[in-house]
Amino acid sequence: MKRTYLVTGGAGFIGANYVKHLLSTYDDVQLVVLDALTYAGNYGTIANDIDGQRCVFVKGDICDQLVVASLFEQYPISVVVNFAAESHVDRSIVNPRLFLETNILGTQNLMDVARASWSTGKDENGYPTWKEGVRFHQVSTDEVYGSLGATGYFTETTPLDPRSPYSASKTSADLIVKAYSETYKFPATITRCSNNYGPYHFPEKLIPLIIKNILEGKPLPVYGDGTNVRDWLYVEDHCKAIELVIRKGKAGEVYNIGGHNEKQNIEIVKLTIDTIRQLMEKEPEYRKALKTDISTVSYGLITHVQDRLGHDKRYAIDPGKMKAELGWYPETNFEQGIVKTIRWYLENQEWVNEVTSGDYQTYYERMYTHH
Ligand code: NAD
Ligand code: DAU
Repeated sequence: MKRTYLVTGGAGFIGANYVKHLLSTYDDVQLVVLDALTYAGNYGTIANDIDGQRCVFVKGDICDQLVVASLFEQYPISVVVNFAAESHVDRSIVNPRLFLETNILGTQNLMDVARASWSTGKDENGYPTWKEGVRFHQVSTDEVYGSLGATGYFTETTPLDPRSPYSASKTSADLIVKAYSETYKFPATITRCSNNYGPYHFPEKLIPLIIKNILEGKPLPVYGDGTNVRDWLYVEDHCKAIELVIRKGKAGEVYNIGGHNEKQNIEIVKLTIDTIRQLMEKEPEYRKALKTDISTVSYGLITHVQDRLGHDKRYAIDPGKMKAELGWYPETNFEQGIVKTIRWYLENQEWVNEVTSGDYQTYYERMYTHH
């Protein structure tokens, strides 16, 4: 039997990868993609996936009750996967309110509409009863756990300790989802994932920004001393994990998803420079993506800049529950994943130009270069 998914934020980085993954892997899904097409969303990313039947697109805001309710009236939605969010930590430092509105109230609105549509009555204790097979899935982040020291890992029971406006908004959303799970026995799951990388990543985030700047011969802004650590996961592995949780995970549960791929930012930047240089030396046709000479592809571009305010030192996920309960593990190691990613950017410069054609400016440029 076909199931209809409402995928929010499906024109963004992970959402678009997830849409493509579902359409190419499963015959039993129909998709309604809802996306407000903010600066981070790009219709062109999924234009070829939208056929108006198996996959439809609606431009709209997850906070808009009328829009979301009309989708539940029009389509037999039984799964909601909520990717839509303001996702960039640096921007949350500049404009926290937008993050609270989208990330918290948007999640609550989606759940309220789903609740109204999916409820079938009440049980003897007054709890709502639900249509069979329905599921709300919240895509959350490891940042809800705060920052680690040199050792240790985040597990699902690590206390929540968000430190940026972004992570506080994501934590609040998680708490509302949890509250609905308890109060209404609303069938919801949460996944908390580490840093993703791969195709269609907006070039304000570290890896695609570094690739873009290397190709343009521009400075590579490394915040502080570059020793902050992130745990990198190839985006396709994340998409597979989410789908596994939706199909096999238990309602009411939280699952951590991570790549066991801890790297310091400075290592990431150096590895990206080395990989681009090697690829261009081996396959000279890639040099046409360069706006300068290959000799500029060097550590000389690395520029240490003022640190991010409240910069979390280290994130590292223990994905043991995903492995033990659902048999998931990350299939792509960083060395393979970064080559695939760089090749994709070298071959998709038009996409980069398209998504940066508006008032594109990185945080570093906005905050520091005009003083
Ligand atoms: P992104 O910024 O690339 O995409 C966000 C998408 O949401 C965009 O298409 C945007 O247009 C849309 N959107 C924003 N506000 C909206 C609104 N009010 N209504 C409808 N659509 C709206 O983000 P991403 O990196 O793909 O992240 C997706 C989700 O995964 C987010 O919830 C984020 O918190 C979470 N997450 C991201 C990472 C990561 O490394 N990128 C890691 C863990 C969790
Ligand atoms: O951990 C999951 C989170 O990963 C997600 O919840 C967020 O949505 C996602 O944006 C990402 O957050 P980060 O802040 O870790 O990602 P970002 O790419 O912005 O930064 C990665 C690291 O690189 C971080 O330590 C800051 C640093 N950095 C970032 C930029 C953009 C730099 O040193 N220079 C830069 O120019």
